[in-house]
Amino acid sequence: MLADKPGPQVERVGRTSAVEGPGETLALRGAWERNIPECVACHGPSGVGVGDAFPPLAGQSAQYLASQLTAWRQGTRKNDPNDLMGHIARSLTDDEVKAVSAYFAGLTDQGAAR
Ligand code: HEC
Repeated sequence: MLADKPGPQVERVGRTSAVEGPGETLALRGAWERNIPECVACHGPSGVGVGDAFPPLAGQSAQYLASQLTAWRQGTRKNDPNDLMGHIARSLTDDEVKAVSAYFAGLTDQGAAR
């Protein structure tokens, strides 16, 4: 069961929270005009991860997150089901990759960085 798995202790940021800046906007709202769903729709509230299929984003290093997104953009990471993340990563701009990576990296067990 998911509840039995130790996960990062992250302050929950609700999807109805006010959003500030491009990273948080992508994370909680997405950019539907470009077919980008909000990251928390799949990665769980505050990006803590859901089961085995959706890895946690919260608390991972910004550098790691950005390098994974870049790998999808460049086609060097392509093992994801239905190209879900590939499509999303390719739809992001360089600045958005940086912003959203920094946003999730800043969500730690110290509480949401704001
Ligand atoms: C439609 C569902 C979905 C949405 C929305 C989504 N992701 Fe993902 N994401 C996935 C899946 C599934 C994986 C695991 C892919 C794999 O195993 O290769 C993943 C993996 C990742 C990874 C790699 C994590 C790791 O530990 O290697 C990153 C980084 C990531 N997503 C970032 C994002 C960001 C940023 C957003 C919002 C812009 C986002 N995702 C939105 C489904 C989604």
